[in-house]
Parts: sequence; structure tokens; C-alpha cells
Amino acid sequence: MSKTYIRRQNGAAVIVAAFMATFMTACHAEPQAASVADGGAASAVGDESWKAIPDLVFRGTISGEPLDFNDKKGEDSAAVKQFKKTGKNPYNDNVDVVKNGYTIFSTACSGCHGHLAEGKLGPALHDDYWTYPGNALDKGLFETIYGGAQGMMGPQRGHLTQDEILQVMSWVRSVYSGPPEKAKWKKK
Ligand code: HEC
Repeated sequence: MSKTYIRRQNGAAVIVAAFMATFMTACHAEPQAASVADGGAASAVGDESWKAIPDLVFRGTISGEPLDFNDKKGEDSAAVKQFKKTGKNPYNDNVDVVKNGYTIFSTACSGCHGHLAEGKLGPALHDDYWTYPGNALDKGLFETIYGGAQGMMGPQRGHLTQDEILQVMSWVRSVYSGPPEKAKWKKK
């Protein structure tokens, strides 16, 4: 009893039924969204209620314009699909993904932000101070990284895949050194 319907995204028609089919096979190869730190509402394995939620609107941190997700990097991973609906990074607290996120950070970000995100040309990313307060939430952090900010902070769109951005974000969250009550992304 499978339901087929068309979801429109940036003009491209995505057949959700096809996604379901690929998801079923692909999910074994992909790092699983196993975090329950957010209460488990949308990220627990087996709970796929997030699939019914429409995609959130992501906007450039500086421009405020909707982000163009057509980055020619292929089909969204399961984690990216989930993230675009919930605004919560399903990779947070996933030890294996966090480790990989650090590898990505080391090549793509540490030259400007320092090896441990302590700050260099760009600001520190491990504390609770954000130039752009929206970065205290995963949605805002993704918007800044994908779409860029001012000056040297160019968009990582097309440079990293959206899944790699989620991975790098999970590492950034893992080195958070601020007070727990300011860890807004962990809240509902
Ligand atoms: C070429 C240098 C450079 C690279 C590479 C770079 N950044 Fe930045 N980043 C900056 C600068 C400079 C700023 C400050 C920009 C501003 O204030 O608008 C910044 C700002 C940011 C902010 C906003 C911080 C805040 O306080 O709100 C985040 C988040 C961020 N960078 C994450 C990353 C991540 C993750 C990567 C790697 C994928 C990365 N950056 C790569 C230079 C860089």
C-alpha cells in the first residue's frame, strides 16, 4: 500500500516513492541518525514521522534570501533530507560522524578557524559567542556555512556536499565549551 506523490523542490520534481526505495537500501551504508539528544522526536531510528513535515525555508545569513540548494552535488543524503525538515542535525553526538567531521574541518576550515576552532583569521567556533546569533541553532549554522558570511567566509556551497556540512557541524558542536544552558541547538 505505497503512496506516490510529487514533492517540488527548487523546480525539480522529486518522487518520494523513489527516495523511499533508495533510502531503504542506502541507509545501511550511511552513518545512521542515532542521536536522541534532542529528545528523539525526529531522529530515533525507526521513527520516520519527520518525512511528512514540509521542508523549512533556509536563508542566507547575510542576504536573507532563500538558499539555492541546486549545488549539483547529487541527491540529498537521508540525513540532509531529515535536516531540511526538522532543522536539527541528525549527526550530532554520532561518534563516527563527528570523527569524520573533524577530518573535513581540518582540510576545509582549520586554516582560518584554527585546528580546534579556537579562532585565527576567522572567529572561534567552540564558545557561546556568535557574531550571528542564529548560529546557536543548527539551521542557522548550516545557513552560514552553506551560504557564507562576510569577507573571507565564503559560501561552502559546491565546495562541500550538504552532508559534509552536517558532518562538520557535528564536530563543531562536539567541541562546544560554553555553558550548557546556552547550547540552544540541543533544545526543542
Ligand atoms: C578563508 C578563511 C575561512 C575559511 C576557509 C572558513 N571560514 Fe568561517 N569565517 C571566516 C571569517 C573571516 C569569518 C567572519 C565572517 C563574518 O563575521 O561575517 C567566518 C565566520 C564563520 C562563522 C560565523 C561565526 C559566528 O560567530 O557567527 C561560522 C559558523 C564559520 N565561519 C564556519 C566555518 C566552517 C565550518 C568552515 C569550513 C567548512 C569555515 N568557516 C571556513 C573565515 C573562514
